[in-house]
Amino acid sequence: MDTKASQPAFRLEIYNENVGVIFIDVPNEKVNTLKAEFAEQFLAILQQAQSTSGLKGLVITSGKKDNFIAGADISMIANCENKEQASELSKEGHLLFDKIDNYPLPIIAAIHGACLGGGLELALACHARICSNDEKTRLGLPEVQLGLLPGSGGTQRLPRLIGIPHALDLMLTGRQLRAKQALKIGLVDDVVPESILLDVAVQLAKKGGVKRPVIHWQQRLLSSKLLRNQVFNSAKQKALSKTKGHYPAPDKIIQVVKTGMNNGAKAGYAQEAKAFGELVMTPESAALRSLFFAVTSLKNETGSKAKPINIQQVGVLGGGLMGGGIAYISASQGKLPVRIKDISDKGVAQALRYSWDLLTQRVSKRRLLARERAAIMSKISGTVNYQGFEKADIVVEAVFEDLALKQKMVAEIEQISDGKTIFASNTSSLPIHQIAAQAQYPEKIIGLHYFSPVDKMPLVEVIPHKHTDDTTIATVVAFAKRQGKTAIVVGDDAGFYVNRILAPYLCEATQCLVQGESIEHIDSALVSFGFPVGPFNLLDEVGIDVGTKILPILVARFGDRFKAPEALDKVVNDDRKGKKNGRGFYEYGHTSSKLLFWKKAPKRQVDKRIYALIGVQPDNKLSKTDIAQRCVMLMLNEAARCLDEKIIRSARDGDIGAVFGIGFPPFFGGPFRYMDSLGIAKTVETMQALAKSHGEKFSPCDLLCQMAKDNQTFYPTQSE
Ligand code: NAI
Repeated sequence: MDTKASQPAFRLEIYNENVGVIFIDVPNEKVNTLKAEFAEQFLAILQQAQSTSGLKGLVITSGKKDNFIAGADISMIANCENKEQASELSKEGHLLFDKIDNYPLPIIAAIHGACLGGGLELALACHARICSNDEKTRLGLPEVQLGLLPGSGGTQRLPRLIGIPHALDLMLTGRQLRAKQALKIGLVDDVVPESILLDVAVQLAKKGGVKRPVIHWQQRLLSSKLLRNQVFNSAKQKALSKTKGHYPAPDKIIQVVKTGMNNGAKAGYAQEAKAFGELVMTPESAALRSLFFAVTSLKNETGSKAKPINIQQVGVLGGGLMGGGIAYISASQGKLPVRIKDISDKGVAQALRYSWDLLTQRVSKRRLLARERAAIMSKISGTVNYQGFEKADIVVEAVFEDLALKQKMVAEIEQISDGKTIFASNTSSLPIHQIAAQAQYPEKIIGLHYFSPVDKMPLVEVIPHKHTDDTTIATVVAFAKRQGKTAIVVGDDAGFYVNRILAPYLCEATQCLVQGESIEHIDSALVSFGFPVGPFNLLDEVGIDVGTKILPILVARFGDRFKAPEALDKVVNDDRKGKKNGRGFYEYGHTSSKLLFWKKAPKRQVDKRIYALIGVQPDNKLSKTDIAQRCVMLMLNEAARCLDEKIIRSARDGDIGAVFGIGFPPFFGGPFRYMDSLGIAKTVETMQALAKSHGEKFSPCDLLCQMAKDNQTFYPTQSE
């Protein structure tokens, strides 16, 4: 047995002579996660407590500093070969947590930090829960986000504790509650400062637990089966409208809760274990879990072998849409002082306003205190010259997309900082080596490509050019993580990765439009495929001018496969910038004065003038599947080229980039995992058939052809 495994994850200490406190402290790990192999140890500890004479109760808490239990270790389920094995894991969880539930003495969970998934299920099995009022304390059941359901009794205990509506909401969204929210819905019994958490829990255990408050009216209402079924039906409809049938977990969660509430807990537990096993084996869950592992492993990567410099002061050039967003996340997430420079006071004011507005939204939703807003705002300041920039460790440049201007910015920053400052450009289309062409310190220059809106989009591309040094790469990756972003390091070539794979997809959607498919039909085809919005809706959102700017650069660099139909130029030349100027593929600004507050806003209408502008009369001859296949196959082909050309470092990075940068359907796991699931040979065959009917651009790239020949996959298969 290795020493790692032999160190216990639990220890029992006796407090005040008559309360046992079980500390969970998984050895050699930063956070506690539950593993199946802990069951025996845990039972032994419970046994030990039971044989300690005079004990009045138990407290379960964490031995880690800032975390209770982050969940069950999901790598356990990767080893399951069939649904029966996976169900077995769930049943083991039931047995273990039943021991807590049926323990002869009161057991109180004392929660500080993350209490998620299996961690919350353990807490639910306890007889009462107390948590700290700390910002780090979060409670939730995020299994649905991995295509799963809470499999250790959560689907049964939660609705019985807090009522069906709240329980369904928590399980179907996977959202995490802060302490006060948890108290409000009865998920915890008390909220106290962390400093007295253990004492209060010990006192409670000594007293014999808590008396449950009188049952909530909502729960009482749901004692009627008819009403319950109405709640389940409406939850089902709501879930379906969100998932569009692409995710099996929500439906199963509703079914399992329904069984438990209508046919009793025993039937509910049995159904929970069965459904858990089935969900584990679905391709959707496998894809979502693979994304989860990819993001987790990226969090631990530094981008290069060097050690990052500790950033203490940030400069942002340009207070526009992007600069404003970058300043905001640097101060709010990164907790760093930020100095913004713009050419005018108006530009500076606009950037400050950007942060103020976002923070104020959070204050009005009670997610932030007014004094916290003030503290964040005090970190952001502005200037129209470079005052204060000499202290910046990193400057993020977000001025107009103009090469000469960006080179001028490089020269000015180099002069002010003597080459000590890292210069990160947020360019969306200019090669980084060109921005660095006249630099004195090219090793300090790098691309840092955010997506709009900066505060919402989780991805950044970090783009070193040939002369960027490793310290700059590592520092910028660490900086992006500090801003709460997932960073992929990509190659310095036209379009980098995300825009490069998006461009052919958008061009093909326009090609379908030119050939007579309507805008709604095309958008709906891609939404049915699984994208959050269709391509024309996307162009309207990001700005048609911004979205198409990269195309000539891609054509110049890679040739005609990036050539958009002329129709797109006509749209741009008609001053259609999309949502931002109220002129796009869809109509804007026609909110009817008759719209009453209880009526849902009407679905946005296509601006039919587009058809006359580009000279087509749509007659929708193609099926949605055919449209989606054409757009998506081009994206897949380009993604494979990017891997072949080392624009991305791995298929994993390519999947992360597409899912978090574009919204490639997460239930497919990203373009590379999707190609693996289709089969590379089949993907190649489909592309070849499309090439015959729709042209050369569909011809599968060399890498795909070679892989098909060698029967390879991007990810190792289970047996490897
Ligand atoms: P914007 O037009 O909203 O803002 C640019 C700002 O730069 C303006 O406030 C302007 O006054 C300021 N500026 C111009 N010259 C300056 C100088 N010499 N010193 C200081 N400030 C100066 O543009 P946006 O959309 O924020 O884009 C900025 C950069 O980010 C561009 O390179 C763009 O390609 C890139 N980008 C834009 C995305 C988008 O969706 N808008 C997405 C990703 C990157």
